Amino acid sequence: MKCVDDFRLKFGKKEIVPIVIGGMGVDISTAQLAVEVARLGGIGHISDAMAPDVCDKRFNTTYVKDKTKFYKLNISNSDKSIVKFDLGLIAEATKMHVAASMEAKRGDGMIFVNCMEKLTMNAPRDTLRVRLASALDAGIDGITLSAGLHLGSFGLIEDHPRFRDAKLGIIVSSVRALQLFLRKNAKLNRLPDYIVVEGPLAGGHLGFGPDWAQYDLATIVADIARYLKEEHLDIPVIAAGGVFTGSDAVSLMENGASAVQVATRFTVANECGLPYDVKQEYFKASEQDIEVNNISPTGYPMRMLKSSPAIGSGIRPGCESYGYLLDGNGNCAYIDSYNREIALHPHSKKISVMDKTCLCTHMSNMNCWTCGHYTYRLKDTTHRRADGSYQTLTAEHIFKDYQYSVDQKITLPELEA
Ligand SMILES: Cc1cc2nc3c(=O)[nH]c(=O)nc-3n(C[C@H](O)[C@H](O)[C@H](O)COP(=O)(O)O)c2cc1C
Repeated sequence: MKCVDDFRLKFGKKEIVPIVIGGMGVDISTAQLAVEVARLGGIGHISDAMAPDVCDKRFNTTYVKDKTKFYKLNISNSDKSIVKFDLGLIAEATKMHVAASMEAKRGDGMIFVNCMEKLTMNAPRDTLRVRLASALDAGIDGITLSAGLHLGSFGLIEDHPRFRDAKLGIIVSSVRALQLFLRKNAKLNRLPDYIVVEGPLAGGHLGFGPDWAQYDLATIVADIARYLKEEHLDIPVIAAGGVFTGSDAVSLMENGASAVQVATRFTVANECGLPYDVKQEYFKASEQDIEVNNISPTGYPMRMLKSSPAIGSGIRPGCESYGYLLDGNGNCAYIDSYNREIALHPHSKKISVMDKTCLCTHMSNMNCWTCGHYTYRLKDTTHRRADGSYQTLTAEHIFKDYQYSVDQKITLPELEA
């Protein structure tokens, strides 16, 4: 019976343990987690989402405070279009976050950065160009393009000296999205180095509509593998979303995948950025406690715990401090929903907004508990203490369980002293 360790993900001559820990913004997939995974020979992701905010917490910088101060006079204004990002500061923060992560890297694995197109930042092209170029400048091993079709993203960095040497990949959820990406980039003569195929059971934003439950990862992986073969394209496919055991991974790798990308099992790792109490919420969750909803202003459905404080929260839009989801015209769907509720309840001290959420503020405060479909199985991966709480695990334990387990088995961690 095969285990994940019988396979290797190959990038030219480089061989990697075929386990990728997916990007989990905002700093849920911490540098510490990515570094540990690289040490173990796999691929870890950091995320560049809200890098200035992440730097403030990691390095005691004051980007968010300074921006809030700069735009203070606009806080009570319902029009947020004047709130812009200073491209120099975005570059500085991204480089700081990436460079420190790369400096800490040990071992044979790699560290990639997850870069979401939907963070439109009131100037989509310019801010994305700076984010991508800065990550390359700071020595990142690879960039995973996510949350968007990224039709123009390669073009934004085609003149960068590392454009052809860094590993560049894209997350897709259908053959069609992949075809669009490849066609659009054909003239650059630069194929992606890997394709992450994300199915409907993943955490974070989903590349599916309300009918997500009708799709299944293995089928999409097989479709994409077939398409690549027909086109004579030799690009590794990395399967993501609902890969809960080493055996799940082996089954995908025996059917066209070269590696798997996983995240949910690592949300309860000691190295994961979620606060301890939130990890306990993940452990406790039952299947009924998880939903796919439309409260993200990005327009993509998102999976999360129904108990997420972000759901129904009517806080003032935090654009003066953040503003990552402002589109090219300075709008965000949450601002509209918030203003609607204010107009309907002009005398209320506290309002509730059900249809959208202020994702920037809630992700920064770890109040949007996004999670994968199988979060309800996390309790089966560890020990329950006498007081009802669950023992968190080391990333190494989870990684090695994926790497060596067979027969759908999950090895529990050693009982804590
Ligand atoms: C807490 C959490 C946050 C996530 N955030 C992001 C993100 O910021 N960007 C992204 O592309 N994918 C994100 N994802 C998706 C993962 O990177 C990964 O592809 C997927 O969750 C794998 O499926 P699994 O969680 O069932 O293992 C997130 C997943 C989780 C669980």
